[in-house]
Amino acid sequence: MTDISITEVERELAGLLPSFVHGGVAQCGSLPGELLAEEANQAQPYGKKRLEEFTTTRLLVRSLLEKLGQAALPLLSGRHREPIWPKGVVGSITHSGGIVIALVARQEDCQSLGVDLECRGGLVAKLFDKIFRPEERAKLLDLDEENQSKSALQLFSAKEAFYKAQFPMTHRFVGFEALSLSLPTKTGNIACTVVADEIREVFKGRDIRLTVTSTCQFALAFCYVQ
Ligand SMILES: CC(C)(COP(=O)(O)OP(=O)(O)OC[C@H]1O[C@@H](n2cnc3c(N)ncnc32)[C@H](O)[C@@H]1OP(=O)(O)O)[C@@H](O)C(=O)NCCC(=O)NCCS
Repeated sequence: MTDISITEVERELAGLLPSFVHGGVAQCGSLPGELLAEEANQAQPYGKKRLEEFTTTRLLVRSLLEKLGQAALPLLSGRHREPIWPKGVVGSITHSGGIVIALVARQEDCQSLGVDLECRGGLVAKLFDKIFRPEERAKLLDLDEENQSKSALQLFSAKEAFYKAQFPMTHRFVGFEALSLSLPTKTGNIACTVVADEIREVFKGRDIRLTVTSTCQFALAFCYVQ
């Protein structure tokens, strides 16, 4: 795991978020404060690293919810590891390379949110068959080596961000083949088509916005559904 620069993550995240989304970034283990009782109860079996990650995300989310005028409520994880957001709130969480990102918004402003941060260097071409659809693979294999590795991680991250955004709306696990993605434009926008039959109806007539960015250290993807 590479440690990545929090300043760079903050800068890149700020460029991705619309004004109705409140986002926060923190170094794992850096925030003062404690878990609420129900959160601490859920975290009992966690090892040191997971506890630090869980505690940082929960403290970060609490500070973001305050900005929405929400009282301090426990943010528990459901059976599928999904965060259970307070009524009327949507949000998403990611952690990688010692950094935690959390996003929240009012549900009246958007249906769902997803965020994903990935360290550069982990995605090798031999995994392409597992992650990408044939048409995505063809577009990636057409690129030179540098652009191929950059775009591949961006698309991977975009799929994970979409997964987190789709779950609260469908309550279903879907694999990487569920979504067909274009390569990102220069501004990081990705066009997407929901291919999986089991969730397609839910997104009919809805706008899925996917945007990515990356540096030499990481790729960052943001998804929202309206
Ligand atoms: C769930 C998954 C997306 C998490 O991604 P990851 O890179 O392993 O981990 P991240 O640090 O980025 O994200 C972890 C956070 O995701 C969130 N998350 C996990 N499962 C979730 C779900 N079902 N719905 C919404 N959010 C979820 C949680 O908030 C978790 O943090 P927390 O446990 O501290 O609350 C990934 O493990 C996975 O299962 N991917 C396969 C499914 C997929 O991506 N399909 C592609 C569809 S096109």
